[in-house]
Amino acid sequence: MGRYNFEQIIDRTNTDSLKYDFAIERGKDKDVMPLWVADMDFATAPEITDALVKRAQHGIFGYTYPKEEYQKTVLNWMKTRHNYEAKPEWLVYTPGVVFAISMALRAVTKEGDAVMIQNPVYYPFTNTVLENGRRLINNSLHYEIKDHRGVYTIDFDKFEDLIIENSVKAFILCNPHNPVGRVWTKDELQRIGDICLKHNVVIIADEIHEDFIYGEKKHIPIASISKEVENITITCTSPSKTFNLAGLQLSNIIIANPEIRKIFKKVMGKTGFDEPNIFGIIACQTAYTQGENWLEELKVYLWENINFVKDFIDTKLPKVVLTIPEGTYLVWLDFNEYGLELKDLENRIQKKAKLWLDEGIIFGKEGIGFERINIAAPRKTVEEAMNRIYEAFSDL
Ligand SMILES: Cc1ncc(COP(=O)(O)O)c(C=O)c1O
Repeated sequence: MGRYNFEQIIDRTNTDSLKYDFAIERGKDKDVMPLWVADMDFATAPEITDALVKRAQHGIFGYTYPKEEYQKTVLNWMKTRHNYEAKPEWLVYTPGVVFAISMALRAVTKEGDAVMIQNPVYYPFTNTVLENGRRLINNSLHYEIKDHRGVYTIDFDKFEDLIIENSVKAFILCNPHNPVGRVWTKDELQRIGDICLKHNVVIIADEIHEDFIYGEKKHIPIASISKEVENITITCTSPSKTFNLAGLQLSNIIIANPEIRKIFKKVMGKTGFDEPNIFGIIACQTAYTQGENWLEELKVYLWENINFVKDFIDTKLPKVVLTIPEGTYLVWLDFNEYGLELKDLENRIQKKAKLWLDEGIIFGKEGIGFERINIAAPRKTVEEAMNRIYEAFSDL
């Protein structure tokens, strides 16, 4: 074992945890094992907790705002970890990435404008587009099964055709792509960038999972592809997924284009949101200066969890088609070979296995027959979940 203990099972019940304390409210049985929403069952890096405790002991929690040091820290993280050089004045702080996407949509599109996404994708994209009165255009990812593994790619001809036919004004990129785990390559990002530049489409890049990349893959911020692409991109980042800080609500949005940035800030001003949360500021700064060792160990642990799931499926659930994630800690499982009605599949997962996963269909019709499982938990938890799935499908 390394320096940090990811095997420890921490009781998260009765902590107002969305994952653990809201099963009934969300229509699930009280005793389901939750592996749905994307937060982790690990304690954050101890350096972060120490810094938060120290700040809490000060006892005064008045208005706060990030200083130059904070900006430097965020930019340094982007530069050293993701080879992307941004400027301090490009940073805008929001209480979340979904909030930022909503602001971005209001900044760069009008009501009735078309906005493109690629299902199956993180479902709040759809809601945010529709709730803002924009038209949703979906360029479904191309899915095929090769050697019993799921493979997702972008249909670039369709990508461009849909943009032209619908006069698309903005495209929401998910990189790495939740739930299918693709880490888009330089070539793919270049093609996205070229098409968006050609047709004046603004790229809203949700790169919240940027720090969870496995093996030889590398996260490439789309804004780092070229100055031209950077100029049409709003990059949404946050330490919230990486260091398990979602409840602290702080995201760092990078907007190089001064016009877009100005409108984004203006639109955000209308919501009344101004100063970020003090604990978010402290946590982010500590994470990005002292959290790297923890993160590196965590990634090894997560990759072992992914491999555990892979081996389990290969030996005990041969009808499940796994898409091996290149990034994120979310694993996308295809149950379609069982040929079950959707209701039967859900019944087996929720009632027989007593698991609360994210049903594939919420990511779009492309997700029918799939389940997304969050493997950012101690191995014993993941093992228990996989055994429950095995039992629930053992009669088939
Ligand atoms: C792709 C993606 N974007 C955004 C979020 C949520 O971000 P926030 O809580 O900052 O709104 C998630 C959380 O699961 C996510 O997977």
